[in-house]
Amino acid sequence: MTDNAWSGRFAEPVSDLVKRYTASVSFDQRMWRQDIRGSLAHAKMLARQGIISAEDLAAIERGMAQIAAEIAAGAFAWNLDDEDVHLNIEKRLTALVGDAGKRLHTGRSRNDQVATDIRLWLRDAIDTLDGLFDALIRALLDLAEAHAETPLPGFTHLQVAQPVTFGHHLLAYVEMLRRDRARCADCRKRVNRLPLGAAALAGTTFPIDREFVARELGFEGVCTNSIDAVSDRDFAIEFCAAAALTMVHISRFSEELILWMNPRVGFIDLADRFCTGSSIMPQKKNPDVPELARGKSGRVFGHLMGLLTLMKGQPLAYNKDNQEDKEPLFDTADTLIDTLRIFAEMAPGIRVKPEAMAAALKQGYATATDLADYLVKKGLPFRDAHEAVARAVRAAEQKGRDLANLPLEELQSFSALIGADVYAVLTVEGSLAARNHIGGTAPQQVRAAIARLRSMP
Ligand code: ARG
Repeated sequence: MTDNAWSGRFAEPVSDLVKRYTASVSFDQRMWRQDIRGSLAHAKMLARQGIISAEDLAAIERGMAQIAAEIAAGAFAWNLDDEDVHLNIEKRLTALVGDAGKRLHTGRSRNDQVATDIRLWLRDAIDTLDGLFDALIRALLDLAEAHAETPLPGFTHLQVAQPVTFGHHLLAYVEMLRRDRARCADCRKRVNRLPLGAAALAGTTFPIDREFVARELGFEGVCTNSIDAVSDRDFAIEFCAAAALTMVHISRFSEELILWMNPRVGFIDLADRFCTGSSIMPQKKNPDVPELARGKSGRVFGHLMGLLTLMKGQPLAYNKDNQEDKEPLFDTADTLIDTLRIFAEMAPGIRVKPEAMAAALKQGYATATDLADYLVKKGLPFRDAHEAVARAVRAAEQKGRDLANLPLEELQSFSALIGADVYAVLTVEGSLAARNHIGGTAPQQVRAAIARLRSMP
């Protein structure tokens, strides 16, 4: 029987199946940097407080430096018998430096240790994401600026509604992504609290200095209840909720890219390097990247549901159930990081086809509301204007023509208030320019919005 950290209490070893079932080292070893960082801060504090000697601290620091080098070089022998990342590293430390290694766990438990490691890991992931949100937002702002005047049919119910500019449409996604980024930043404040010092659940009898450890690790403060410190996973759930909502936005954008790339629509083309072909149909160019992003939203939503379910039945404080928090959390962060990165790379490769957008705009009577507004400005109540224009659209449709192509006398048959100046409001450019207020689609407003967004942090 291999001696592990807790075998003293037991009369027989666990079976291989139980060992495999209960171990987490295969997936929590990726937190090794955070584990070592946390241990070093803890050891430094123990030495400052006179709980271990300066020699012990030096030995721990020396051993940990070697372990870090071994892991980074791929030379560390991860062992299932040692259950998790924490025990694997501690065992190697003791092999390297003897009793000093055995003193490291003084005043600490794996319960507060693992909570600390996850928080450090997630904080790093959030910081990576922050840069990626910024990159994607900037890429969309550049594309929006290039198309501040490019008319696009705006849809409601997926039917042509009113003209908008392609830039304005993209800025809607910028708004979503800015909220997503802010949600992650807000979540980070609650991630960034130190559980260490809670020990198993009740605190420790040693004269520890938690504030010192918090400062060493860059935490904004300590978790102020030891029971909550070891059992709380709200921060992971919050992160997954923020990630899930971001994936909703990415999935909606993906759906639009896929639709726009359909040859029947043809509003855009994606650079070849983001598409793949078919092994049977030689003509195919498929928008795989947005399709996969739309699909991957499902796994992120699933992880959120998984974590909520993981926590709902747990009595205080730590339970082994919590070990199941890592894979969903890691996969959520990995998926979101890859997705934002690939979208930031893909955005500049979106080739816009303004002719197709303009052609689609000619087909849906997109300026009908402008004609109604025109009549209102001449004194007709809006409901009557709506009725008059609806009749005009019906007549134009029967003739297979656009409103702008009906002769003046015919337009006047729907309302005597219509004059020769009507044609200016029936153009797409006139329609766009008229929506000239904050949040509106007028090119002037789109440019102002881009400048505003660029200047914001
Ligand atoms: N591998 C464990 C986890 O991920 C570490 C904490 C174990 N604590 C314990 N009392 N068994 O949660």
